[in-house]
Amino acid sequence: MEMNQPIGRTPLDERPDGLVGRPLDRVDGPLKVTGRAPYAYESRALKDPAYGYIVTATVAAGTITAIDATAARNAPGTILVMTHENVPEQGEKKEQVWPQLQGREVLFYGQPVAFVVAETFEQARAAALLVKVNYDRAKPKGLLKENRGAAYEPKPMTTSPTVKVDSALGDFDGAFAAAPVQIDVEYTTPTQIHAQMEPHATIAAWETGPDGDSVVLYSANQMPNRGQPALGSVLKLPPEKVRIVTPYIGGGFGSKLQALPEATLAALAAKVVKRPVKVALTRQQEFHVGTHRTDTIQRVRLGADKDGKLNAIAHESWSDTAVGDTFYETSANVTRSLYAAPNRITRHRLVNLNMPIASSMRAPGEAVGQLAFECAMDELAERLNLDPIELRIRNEPSEDPEKKIPYSTRRLVDCMKEGAARFGWDKRGKPGATRDGQWLVGLGVSAAARQNPLKPSSAGVRLGPDGVLTVRMAMTDLGTGTYTILTQIGGEMLGLPPEKVRVELGDTNFPKAAGSGGSFGAGSAGSALYVACDNLRQALAAKAGIDPATATFSDGAVNAGDRSVSLTDLAGPDGIEAKGEIKPGELEKKFAQYSYGAHFAEVGVDVDTGEIRLRRMLGCFTGGRILNAKTARSQAIGGMIFGVGAALMEDAVIDPRYSYYVNHDLAEYHVSTHADVPDVDAFFLPELDDKANPLKSKGLGELGICGAGASVANAIYNATGIRIRDYPMTLDKVLKGLEERETQRRT
Ligand code: MOS
Repeated sequence: MEMNQPIGRTPLDERPDGLVGRPLDRVDGPLKVTGRAPYAYESRALKDPAYGYIVTATVAAGTITAIDATAARNAPGTILVMTHENVPEQGEKKEQVWPQLQGREVLFYGQPVAFVVAETFEQARAAALLVKVNYDRAKPKGLLKENRGAAYEPKPMTTSPTVKVDSALGDFDGAFAAAPVQIDVEYTTPTQIHAQMEPHATIAAWETGPDGDSVVLYSANQMPNRGQPALGSVLKLPPEKVRIVTPYIGGGFGSKLQALPEATLAALAAKVVKRPVKVALTRQQEFHVGTHRTDTIQRVRLGADKDGKLNAIAHESWSDTAVGDTFYETSANVTRSLYAAPNRITRHRLVNLNMPIASSMRAPGEAVGQLAFECAMDELAERLNLDPIELRIRNEPSEDPEKKIPYSTRRLVDCMKEGAARFGWDKRGKPGATRDGQWLVGLGVSAAARQNPLKPSSAGVRLGPDGVLTVRMAMTDLGTGTYTILTQIGGEMLGLPPEKVRVELGDTNFPKAAGSGGSFGAGSAGSALYVACDNLRQALAAKAGIDPATATFSDGAVNAGDRSVSLTDLAGPDGIEAKGEIKPGELEKKFAQYSYGAHFAEVGVDVDTGEIRLRRMLGCFTGGRILNAKTARSQAIGGMIFGVGAALMEDAVIDPRYSYYVNHDLAEYHVSTHADVPDVDAFFLPELDDKANPLKSKGLGELGICGAGASVANAIYNATGIRIRDYPMTLDKVLKGLEERETQRRT
């Protein structure tokens, strides 16, 4: 099926009490909590593995002058020490999968410079510490703010080549200059680390068959079908000769959208030692060998009339990545669609620094873009003495303001109004006016918007003689609930209870699927499964002699009128199979597709210490049909908590002398924990989007983080009257503002 026509009535519309939408517990929950869901490093499929350990560069720029691996090679248990001097020949870099151990040049701190393989993990680690690397150290370029002048216009992203880097409409400069009310502000966001629970890990092994070599990688990977050609390029194999198996993933947040060096190194070494090789990044290596979200500088300019109607919008973003890499943070992309204004520009600029590789992290673009833009909107509302929700209502567009096409659905204003009513927004006071003992209390609001992409996906289904529906696809579940929603879709389509549906994911031997990323996983994989089930329904109905148009599927049978034929009879001893495929089509060009929401935050700020505590938070969202009320709410809440971390604590601090992250572990890189998050709730307004996909659902995996941090930041302003424009908003920055105000008051 190609999405060229809006979706009419479907079997999923027939039963409001059906499986889809129910708050079903995770079907993989018991496996997870009893430790029977193997993660990559725990897989037992490949026998007798040797253990790898990565040696990383201790300088951020320069040249390797010598590597002395003698002691490491002679250490107990060592099988191989691989360096640039003996690494097997590799192919081209593809996307962000780089050939490893290439030459003497060091581009960033943490770049792998050697790979040690030994009989045990402890031996590999001990030998790795014996590898002596001498460097001719150059002065690294590590800070975006110091190198902003070197920024250039990057090429479009390889993953979305049709999305323009910059956009312009009308006459921004003229309109901004003439605007009676102007906001011109610069926000900065820090480097953030994905900090997913499961580290990157791979066990790799080679096979030689009649038609040549192939490699299998048990590897934590969100998008295994994307990993095949990328790893294939570097390993000089055709994509189909790379098999990636990743049935369970302990989180990713974007860090596992592609294979990291550990996968490449394990594969290269396994070929040399003719034995499976397993390796995981240490938590510290996650920070430097792994990827991160780049820091950004964002300038937002808003020109409005005295009633708050925007006439000019500009959003410019600077970000950085490693030397030789092209990833830029698409901070301003969502600004192209969010509010009306005839004159507008968006612009992205990139700097290459001696820093590790930047990549997608949860809601790449929108997450940090809205940290800046939604605060700038708050500043405009403040200047106009207008309620920030009213400001957004006055700038609600009737169509996509840049593409000039209608929205498929858009309930942003509904989310704002409904959320405001439930949160008690009317109790918000003037900035700095509400006290609760030692706490200055404030409320903040922000819009949330996230694009809704559909990616090509396919699924295979088989109804067995036991009446069990088996679903297979190279889709992944990175902890978000994919197994569960696919169980629900398959079950409802065939009229089967969840225990009669078996979902098998995470193997590139299964039909190709989009994987988990960009909030497209549920819609894309779920739609492929919907189509496969629809095809299976046709086949079953035909076999039963029932008109597929009038057939209903319930209680393990296909029914029409008073006829009912059991599915097990129809499946017969051999079972019955079908396939399904979904592709994006015309509708993504004809309609702007986004999920929307509104965040409301209440914070307390200690009047003496500047300490900021979140007191409560509420998100109101729309994401088309909700596939599972529980996992959807968990996604929303998880995103919001991520946003709280972005607003208040997450900050990978760069030492400018050495260009490395000082706080490279989870003791010092702070993410929100239980005590930081007292009372957070989220709900969804009913919606069906018949332009999005046959499920009429929209992406919501990353929606919850979009704008969440901005609502916290805006609440801090409302509490204190102090506007901080440098994330994270820590107490020292509040204190500075409080002290300045105190000084002003006294003089
Ligand atoms: Mo997401 S950053 O596409 O996993």
